[in-house]
Amino acid sequence: MKLAQRMSRLGTETAFDVLVRAKALEAQGHDIVHLEIGEPDFDTPSNIIEAACKALRSGYTHYGPAAGLPQLREVIAADISQSRSIQVNANNVVVTPGGKPIMFYVIMALADEGDEVIYPNPGFPIYESMINFMGAKPVSLALREENEFRVDLDELRIKASPRTKLIIINSPHNPCGSVLTKEDLKAIAEVAVKNDIMVLSDEIYGRTIYEAKFESITQFPGMLERTIILDGFSKTYAMTGWRMGYGVMPEPLAAQIAKLMTNSNSCTASFTQMAGVEAITGPQEESHKMVKAFQERRDIIVKGLNQIPGITCLLPKGAFYVFPNVKQVVKKGKFANTKAFADHLLSEGGVAALSGTAFGQYGEGYMRFSYANSIPNINKALSRIADTVTKLH
Ligand SMILES: Cc1ncc(COP(=O)(O)O)c(C=O)c1O
Repeated sequence: MKLAQRMSRLGTETAFDVLVRAKALEAQGHDIVHLEIGEPDFDTPSNIIEAACKALRSGYTHYGPAAGLPQLREVIAADISQSRSIQVNANNVVVTPGGKPIMFYVIMALADEGDEVIYPNPGFPIYESMINFMGAKPVSLALREENEFRVDLDELRIKASPRTKLIIINSPHNPCGSVLTKEDLKAIAEVAVKNDIMVLSDEIYGRTIYEAKFESITQFPGMLERTIILDGFSKTYAMTGWRMGYGVMPEPLAAQIAKLMTNSNSCTASFTQMAGVEAITGPQEESHKMVKAFQERRDIIVKGLNQIPGITCLLPKGAFYVFPNVKQVVKKGKFANTKAFADHLLSEGGVAALSGTAFGQYGEGYMRFSYANSIPNINKALSRIADTVTKLH
């Protein structure tokens, strides 16, 4: 078999590879603490599950419109309008099986071969994968610890040009947990407007935020007509396995993205969309409780990591990841790179986590730990990391 050339340009998400290796070790009898996967460890709130069951019994078992059921798109439009203080309607919304397809479709719809797409590095690995897959040119924007892993605005101004078709931003950020300030977003908006560039704003962690206030780039002049908001249900309502997300974008683009849905999925599952209506319009206490629990865990893991010699960790303001600096540990253990230390931590320490390089080359020297796990497990992981580091020489 000879694969099409483009397949060689497709990347992946290392989190799933590490999960497979961790599971293989477990099958051999090893005890592993899982801090590699980015999904809430909570169950989907019961009112949402009930709504799905009711929808199944009421006949929501058929195909629906490619862009999503009108009732869900209306509810999403109202929610996005209210939370971002903007005015959008159902025609701006396309519902997809997870937020991820929005990346796929938007990059496919906007970037021609050779066009430049600016994206955060470290950043969600699928951005770079999809840019390459489409034959576009990935232009990375380094997120540095010195800048609290926020966008370097001077670098953005230098890299943005008439060749740039799209700027991807993600706040709160995976893997760094950083949150862009209102001033950051204003400056990014100015660059986008000046150079006539579209913006894909990945806001999937918009409600998983702690001290900071969530701000969307759509609030700035000229941005509503050039922004695609990516959001969804996976993180906010612990619905990763349901596969439901959405994009909010200018109407002409929404029509094109719906056409891509027709060509690929036909539509998102109808009964899950009815559960989505309940998720947004029903009680929000469970979702708020999850955020409170994440915050408590964040404080524990950040404090614990900072007590381990050779590790320093900033306090992330959102999402459920920490991105500590482990450069001294990598050096102490004479590891070839951070990935080698992450492998060692899994096999010798029983803690599954990701090397920062799983999110791009600027992740070297850092690791991502997901704290979507219980406090006893986080404490267990912290003492195992400390033991593993102490034994290095
Ligand atoms: C930054 C970011 N965007 C989008 C997604 C996609 O989420 P989903 O497809 O489950 O909605 C994820 C999932 O990990 C993510 O971390």
